[in-house]
Amino acid sequence: MEILSAVPWYGAKFQIAEALASKYKRSGITTFIDGCGGSGKMVINAPAYPEMVYNDLDTALCCMFRCIKEKNLFLPFLRELNNRKYELSTFEKANNCLIMFDIEQEMVKNSKLGKITFDLNNEAVILEIGISKYIVICQSYNATQSSFRPATVENLETYHNRFLTLVDVHYRMNHLGIEISNKDMFQMLEDSINEKDSSTLYALDVPYIAGDDQERKAIGAYHKMDWDIRLHERLMDIVYKEFTVPILICGYKSLLYKERLLYDGSPWKEIGIAEVAKSASSKKVQKQG
Ligand SMILES: C[S@@+](CC[C@H](N)C(=O)[O-])C[C@H]1O[C@@H](n2cnc3c(N)ncnc32)[C@H](O)[C@@H]1O
Repeated sequence: MEILSAVPWYGAKFQIAEALASKYKRSGITTFIDGCGGSGKMVINAPAYPEMVYNDLDTALCCMFRCIKEKNLFLPFLRELNNRKYELSTFEKANNCLIMFDIEQEMVKNSKLGKITFDLNNEAVILEIGISKYIVICQSYNATQSSFRPATVENLETYHNRFLTLVDVHYRMNHLGIEISNKDMFQMLEDSINEKDSSTLYALDVPYIAGDDQERKAIGAYHKMDWDIRLHERLMDIVYKEFTVPILICGYKSLLYKERLLYDGSPWKEIGIAEVAKSASSKKVQKQG
């Protein structure tokens, strides 16, 4: 199966997604949840399960994936992307739209707003947010969404070639029946653990540990979605004694994860990337099934 990627992304876990998930594949699993979906590379390149879910807390990312997956949104999405030039003003307009969307979402959450502009029941709004997210990712340096990457002949070629890949991603998502979900994966995981759900496999490609003296010093690449050490510890607290729900945590080598999950007698098992794919260079931790 060809490895597909809807958008460029920091890190390259997709290179091993299929190999890793196949290694884990065992009878009794009916649902595959990519809990921290990001670019979707894990779920799009995973082997088929009866139910597959792309989940991310970032609502704009989920709008983008709805535009890529849903039949009624996909063509208008492509058409509009094609109409908008690769240039600084396009990037800034898209960025401003996402900033306003975030502000509004925050105000709605705090019940400080009656009437809303970005009504997510409206397809035109989903399209605008999805297009803006795509542009901000694909026209930025290293896909970090923070600053515009000026167009060169090579950049432009890559940018436009991606539109064709999107067609393949659209078909793959429909073929696999990938559902798009915009939830806090902590809540999903806790619910599955409470229900002792052994039929759902969680693939969690968690954000880097951000903060002083950590893997990522500045909170940045995923904006407000980055995790400081407290969120990683919260995950450890939820999963460290978990024996029922199959969970696969992906990340770079980390002392915290090693100390908390790989104690003597732990049900967790570390899988070095070399065991599943020679070309990749990161590390994985997997719970024994
Ligand atoms: C390391 S990235 C995932 C990369 C992705 N697997 C890939 O290969 O492209 C982490 C993602 O987790 C999302 N995220 C952060 N906190 C989350 C939470 N509590 N629930 C769900 N998603 C979350 C971020 O928005 C970000 O997209």
